[in-house]
Amino acid sequence: MSDLKKIKDEYLSKLNGKLNLLELNKIKSELFGKNGLVSSQFKKIGSIAESERKKFASDLNVIKDELQNLIEFKLDEIQNVEINKKLEKEKIDVTLPERNFVRGKIHPVSQTIDEISSIFSEIGFSIEEGPDVENEYNNFTALNTPDNHPARDMHDTFYLDEKKERLLRTHTSPVQIRTMLNDKPPFKIIAPGRTYRSDSDQTHSPMFHQVEGLHIDNGINMGHLKGCLNYFIKEFFEVKKIKMRFRPSHFPFTEPSAEVDIGYEMKNGKIIIGEGDQWLEILGCGMVHPNVLKNVKVDPTKFQGYAFGIGIDRLAMLKYGINDLRSFFDCDYRWLNHYGFDPLDVPTNYRGLSR
Ligand code: PHE
Repeated sequence: MSDLKKIKDEYLSKLNGKLNLLELNKIKSELFGKNGLVSSQFKKIGSIAESERKKFASDLNVIKDELQNLIEFKLDEIQNVEINKKLEKEKIDVTLPERNFVRGKIHPVSQTIDEISSIFSEIGFSIEEGPDVENEYNNFTALNTPDNHPARDMHDTFYLDEKKERLLRTHTSPVQIRTMLNDKPPFKIIAPGRTYRSDSDQTHSPMFHQVEGLHIDNGINMGHLKGCLNYFIKEFFEVKKIKMRFRPSHFPFTEPSAEVDIGYEMKNGKIIIGEGDQWLEILGCGMVHPNVLKNVKVDPTKFQGYAFGIGIDRLAMLKYGINDLRSFFDCDYRWLNHYGFDPLDVPTNYRGLSR
């Protein structure tokens, strides 16, 4: 019997027996490894007499293919057995009760920020952000707030160092400064965010939220400010008519300055915005002081405009009937479940601004 026939017969019978993966791999290397039986037959081809060489080579190739195919087949077979064994063991129990899952709610403050942002972006305001940790210059000095101003009092401001150079911003107005220092006029921005003052009672919390507005261009006047705020308040409270009044006030960074009240009344224990003869303060505003513009290298003889700062939490309380500001920040899951918003439930005046 020729060598080839011997190899073929021996290994066909081995391969047809019951094998595990280890045994199969051993056979594979005996045949096709570097010095394997089949591999060494190939090396022999050159030394075979020319008359027989062709036949030998072709027989060898046939045997090689046959053995290789059988090895592949066996490998598949062994792997299938393994998979089937695994599948047998890993049964899915469809009768198990489902796992508890909790659907999150959107916090009323986040919801309110979204609503405010979408209303203002519709009338051309872009949204800016600034850091909660500010320097004294942006928070006070650049905003025309001199050293001895009461707003700088330790009771109000959380300073972060002894020199009082770093602090938690007491309002969102420093974003005005950052925006104007970074760019050239015109500016038309709002800046929502967290603000901090050392104060805590039913209507004050040491951390609260404001949204700053700033519009600087040629010839912007107080009429524009009134129009803009009137539009915003109506849109926000979803009412057609609003009672709004400007009360003279003082902010170092605006001149003239005003506080804005909106009219309301109580009906059956519920607050109705836009009717009645009660007044509620919701924001501070005014025409940006020329000194502020000079501080940020904007020429006040060419550019003017208004700024406003709205208390976001206050607006959220009014719109959604929440009467203790501190509950916003208690992290009480039951409270959030009650006052929060379903992320999949799109409110009526939601304009699709992405969160
Ligand atoms: N920054 C002021 C405050 O926190 C509000 C405000 C902003 C007033 C812009 C006028 C203009 O009280």
